[in-house]
Amino acid sequence: MDATKLRRAIARTPLAPVAAFPKRFARVARHDAKVLRASARWLVTSREHHNYTYELTKLSRHHLTWFVSVVCDIPVQQVRGYVAEIESDDALRHHIEQATATAARRGLADRKVRYARRVGWYAIVRATHPAHVVETGVDKGLGTCVLASALLRNAQEGHPGRVTSLDINPEAGYLARVAPWSEVVDLVIGDSIASIGALDRPVDLFLHDSDHSRAHEKREFDAVEPTLAPGAILLTDNVTSTNVLAEHAERTGRRFLAYRESPVNHWYPGDGIGVAW
Ligand SMILES: C[S@@+](CC[C@H](N)C(=O)[O-])C[C@H]1O[C@@H](n2cnc3c(N)ncnc32)[C@H](O)[C@@H]1O
Repeated sequence: MDATKLRRAIARTPLAPVAAFPKRFARVARHDAKVLRASARWLVTSREHHNYTYELTKLSRHHLTWFVSVVCDIPVQQVRGYVAEIESDDALRHHIEQATATAARRGLADRKVRYARRVGWYAIVRATHPAHVVETGVDKGLGTCVLASALLRNAQEGHPGRVTSLDINPEAGYLARVAPWSEVVDLVIGDSIASIGALDRPVDLFLHDSDHSRAHEKREFDAVEPTLAPGAILLTDNVTSTNVLAEHAERTGRRFLAYRESPVNHWYPGDGIGVAW
């Protein structure tokens, strides 16, 4: 029997996985070694202990631009223009580097500015010109700065807007307390559910990025629903963990899509953007 015939014969028997073991072992070892290398590099070079930042792979960036193009119904070239805009915003990048270097919690933050999926948030704000954005969960204020930066550009083009950013931690949002970004940011400290209940004007774009438990995410979307403007867009940063926004979209007659990001050289598998509209 020749080698090909023998391989085919073994493939039909319970011995097949044993025969393929060396190949299977090499595959998984290569994968795990890559994760271990990235983990070791990160442990030595990064200071972050949560809300990790990273670059996206080229392919993941392509998929993000197409995702925004479909959701906002605009040409993908226009989305690429928005992505290039935030990435070449040297004033914003410089501000974040400086504010990070002098912050009280600088020992737990990387100076290098990496927006990852937040460039998708930026492009959605640029494309849809919301008058009122609400972001739950602020942390240092990186996302808040990105949203504020898009709102400032919109205002220059005659479409003013503000972002209300909600966090339970009084120290949150230090990156977004500096002008010109602070000029379009209303930082509200307290539990997000109570703060959403106290919103005094319609919400055009809502982003969940606070307590990522399923129950809290659901409570936020339920709480904001009566305050949404017609045609409002709902985003979640929790889409790789729960189906809460998809279920909310189905209940409320909206469409739903999810984008999953892929970080470059990071052990963390990445988050994503869920959108209901
Ligand atoms: C993942 S971080 C937010 C990241 C931020 N949006 C960004 O772009 O970097 C989560 C934040 O949610 C806040 N948080 C947790 N539970 C909350 C609650 N019940 N109400 C409001 N904020 C909450 C935490 O204090 C933390 O700062």
